[in-house]
Amino acid sequence: MANTNGMQSAPLKFSKMISEAEIAKRVKELGAEITALCQKESVIAVCVLKGSFVFYSDLVRAIEADVKSEFLGTASYGNAMQSSGEVKLTLDLTTSIEGKTVLLVEDIIDTGLTMDFLTKTLAARKPKKILTCSLLFKPDALKVDFKPDYVGFKIPSDFVIGYGLDYQGFYRNLPYIARVESLN
Ligand code: IMP
Repeated sequence: MANTNGMQSAPLKFSKMISEAEIAKRVKELGAEITALCQKESVIAVCVLKGSFVFYSDLVRAIEADVKSEFLGTASYGNAMQSSGEVKLTLDLTTSIEGKTVLLVEDIIDTGLTMDFLTKTLAARKPKKILTCSLLFKPDALKVDFKPDYVGFKIPSDFVIGYGLDYQGFYRNLPYIARVESLN
């Protein structure tokens, strides 16, 4: 893939794992489940940047009830395909979550360290409850005891790109999820 400036993206060999149609169908189903939640209580849906921006924008449009949007930034990966194990907050919420139901929306749960860090950090702000939704979940890669409330797809512990997920900042614009086969 080359951008309009002729810059070459990081060279990768990859193959399609989850198609656009499969993603759209599952996002609609998750949207229906979260609609039911939003009809029972008022929810702040938090987009966990950067990776979940594509999933989040499709998911919130599949929610047919009032929902408030907020954004959080986290960083855990450098340019490697393995978690650094270090999680930091790069952008904070702009509203109080005290007494509120918070739904954290992630692209992927790998080691679980990001969600563990975020749920503990936000719990200190006294929300009513924190729920979590992740498009992808790699159960075999978990390093902490963590169970998301809503999951799109359980996948093996392969490195994946597309639909918001990146390799060195590239491939977020791929409209489907692909498994990385190898570096060229
Ligand atoms: P965790 O803290 O190890 O669960 O990883 C969470 C973050 O790592 C995600 O939000 C992604 O940004 C990144 N990540 C984990 N696995 C992958 C992958 O397979 N491809 C791209 N990014 C990933």
